[in-house]
Amino acid sequence: MEKRDELYRGKAKTVYTTDDDNKLILHFRNDTSAFDGEKIEQLDRKGEVNNKFNHFVMSKLEEAGIATQVEELVSDTESLVKKLDMIPVECVVRNVAAGSLVRRLGVEEGLTLNPPVFEFFLKNDALHDPMINDYHVVSFGWATAEQIEKMKALTFEVNAVLRELFDDAGMILVDYKLEFGLDGQGNIVLGDEFTPDGCRLWDKETRKKMDKDRFRQGLGSVVETYIEVAERLGLKL
Ligand code: C5P
Repeated sequence: MEKRDELYRGKAKTVYTTDDDNKLILHFRNDTSAFDGEKIEQLDRKGEVNNKFNHFVMSKLEEAGIATQVEELVSDTESLVKKLDMIPVECVVRNVAAGSLVRRLGVEEGLTLNPPVFEFFLKNDALHDPMINDYHVVSFGWATAEQIEKMKALTFEVNAVLRELFDDAGMILVDYKLEFGLDGQGNIVLGDEFTPDGCRLWDKETRKKMDKDRFRQGLGSVVETYIEVAERLGLKL
């Protein structure tokens, strides 16, 4: 597999074309950003840790029958993935109240949400990723009603698999963000990443924050804690 041109540079990953029209390479960089890119730092080893973490979690999801973009690790910081036509919305599931939900609704952080809450956000940095609903998604043509149902169903399937995975390793999966795309046959496939950059994880006993809130809130030991999460899951880094 040969890496070709830079296709897209996001805040933490760069996407490259390859000599295969149906495959891309995701390069996980050390860049760590928060607050719409207002706070950006380079964190040693984060690209490597997130690349391997993402591969590990996506493999668990594949084992559970959920189609993902990931094919294989190609270097410490790069993965080969299927090319998808990405749907420009973020699917967020919340098992416990935290983050923007707490700010928006004034509820207490840590409140258990039963059933878990599903939210859509539009992927648009300039507009600060506004919250949207199903009607916006269909009216503006970002996805069909059928595709919405599929994204919701898959997002909750991921929740069942990952809640248990993290629970068994002594952590609470508080919330997370997923992005989906369409493959060449029009199937909805899980894309982007699942890493501690895009979810909230708390230690079950102490409620220690083990995700990007450590960076957002200046709590320190960001990558060290991501490595601790990985090791608890049995992933050697
Ligand atoms: O900020 P908020 O509370 O809405 O985030 C919910 C979840 O989605 C968090 O786990 C956060 O890390 C993730 N998220 C993300 N990328 C965004 C927005 C949210 O990974 N652009």
